[in-house]
Amino acid sequence: MCGIVGYVGPKSSLEVLLGGLRRLEYRGYDSAGVSIIAPGGQLETRKKAGKLDNLIAEITSHPLPIANIGIGHTRWATHGAPTDGNAHPHLGGPTSKLSLIHNGIIENFSELKAELLALGTKFNSETDSEVAAHLIAREFDKTGDLPTAFANVVQRLHGAFTILVIHEDQPDVVLAARRNAPLVIGLGDGENFLGSDVAAFVEHTKRAISVGQDEIVILRADSIEIRTFDGVPVIPVEFTVDWDASAASKGGWSSFMAKEIADQPQAVADTLMGRLNSDGSVRLSEIDGLSADDILNIDRIIMVACGTASYACDVAKYAIEKYSRIPVQVELSHEFRYRDPIVTKNTLIVAVSQSGETMDTLMATRYAKEQGAKVLAICNTQGATLARESDAVIYTHAGPEVAVASTKALTAQITAGFLLALFLGAGRKQLATDELHGLGRQLLKMPALVTEVINNLDLARQLGKDMANAKSVLFLGRNVGFPIAMEGALKLKELAYIHAEGFAAGELKHGPIALIEEGQPVIVIVPSQRDADSLHPKVISNIQEIRARGAKVIAVAEAGDTEVAQYAEHVIYVPKSQSMFAPILTVIPLQVFALELSTAKGLDVDQPRNLAKSVTVE
Ligand code: M6R
Repeated sequence: MCGIVGYVGPKSSLEVLLGGLRRLEYRGYDSAGVSIIAPGGQLETRKKAGKLDNLIAEITSHPLPIANIGIGHTRWATHGAPTDGNAHPHLGGPTSKLSLIHNGIIENFSELKAELLALGTKFNSETDSEVAAHLIAREFDKTGDLPTAFANVVQRLHGAFTILVIHEDQPDVVLAARRNAPLVIGLGDGENFLGSDVAAFVEHTKRAISVGQDEIVILRADSIEIRTFDGVPVIPVEFTVDWDASAASKGGWSSFMAKEIADQPQAVADTLMGRLNSDGSVRLSEIDGLSADDILNIDRIIMVACGTASYACDVAKYAIEKYSRIPVQVELSHEFRYRDPIVTKNTLIVAVSQSGETMDTLMATRYAKEQGAKVLAICNTQGATLARESDAVIYTHAGPEVAVASTKALTAQITAGFLLALFLGAGRKQLATDELHGLGRQLLKMPALVTEVINNLDLARQLGKDMANAKSVLFLGRNVGFPIAMEGALKLKELAYIHAEGFAAGELKHGPIALIEEGQPVIVIVPSQRDADSLHPKVISNIQEIRARGAKVIAVAEAGDTEVAQYAEHVIYVPKSQSMFAPILTVIPLQVFALELSTAKGLDVDQPRNLAKSVTVE
């Protein structure tokens, strides 16, 4: 979950590190720290609990010398409270010449710590990470060779880690190791970078290499060398980052979340680009690896994901089942992995993740692969572990998502899910050509419709401000509106810290309706009236049932739905669309509602308490 950055080259390492940490702060913001080595000088470290601004204030009052090498860290606390002492970097050895940063959890740290304590090592923190700093420093004192010492120690560590190390006696090299935690190299001209993801260095270079499992990197200004933990050389595969550096900055918006909500027409358009022809036919060259027979042989799809990404799967399930008639199961990755699920070689696993680094989802896909299943990833981050480890990837092209609350990644994931549904529908011959092309043309209209929604959010904004004192908000939906209700509730929980729950509207009478009392706000996602088999009348009945018990209803409904206005206090209208595709529209007012309510409460919408964007521990 922590963010890691490393640099060696002619620039001021402090500037590169702080810029990288600013872009990685979404990964954790319990503390931040940097270590640098000035030419011919000593290792210097500054670290501070709290957000990056606290570290910057610390450096302003205790300036660092100009240097060209360094490492930086932003922390999401696991072992040890978020204090200055537990902040990274951690120094190793009696002379504190080695500095180390770590993302992950060293599972065997207690036994390693006991070993070090027996040798008289003094610890300065409660973290698991500090053991690695002392072990490497001791090993270096023995061997006199930093890469060898580093390799010897990382092989002894269990668990998940990306570790970066610099040493005062070897001031031209940054060492890195990766197991079960992300690490990417940025290739510059006479300079090189390391980062937890490409956002760390995209401002400086678009050339990148994704570091594989159990690999070590020896990074200098003019060279990189990659070896396995056992010392076998690795031939790196370079890729070009397609994120625009400016996309990872706020650019005048009040928050990253506000900007990312506004980015959604582009995110949806870019995810569709090149994948739908103008006649509506689908092209998904990324999964060319799946032959016609492979597609015909799929007997079940299991979609695995967490949080918001799991709601994208819930929406996609409706489309995939309807258009391709392949049964789809949606599973929270962490539940799937540990319940002995039935997976065969004819099961297609679709793993959905913005970051591509969510450990729960990685563990689920690794397990599925071990059982012989094929894994298709829907992922937003190039070079991410999930993308590397999957048989095929459909990239969502939402661009960097920095706010912890996922917005544009979700609408892009839902869009990719619809593309997959149409692709499979065609491959399984369940959709006639006319129908397929008609749906494709409807999907092509979505970016323009998203723009219309974005331009008409005043009511959602106002309601968010007006409801700043709400203690609880419930959300209801049916069919594709149900996952959107759950997403609306999740947004409110994570941003405004109030009780919120999403229900299937039909489920209410089986228990949750007991929650309704006078004045209870309920946001209802109302389906279109236009379909022959529309659930509109049923949702109107559900609204009547809760109104009769005192609920204050806010409806999100399709333009032209005058009936719902009779039963709701407020109606937020979204444009008419193919009803299957409506979630891409109806979720947006809920995002804005949560953003405004949280802002009205004076909370930090980009960095809500206790959270990190990328959850790289199980
Ligand atoms: O990077 P991922 O898409 O795998 O992340 C999954 C969830 O952790 C993420 O969607 C989380 O629920 C968001 N904070 C919700 O806004």
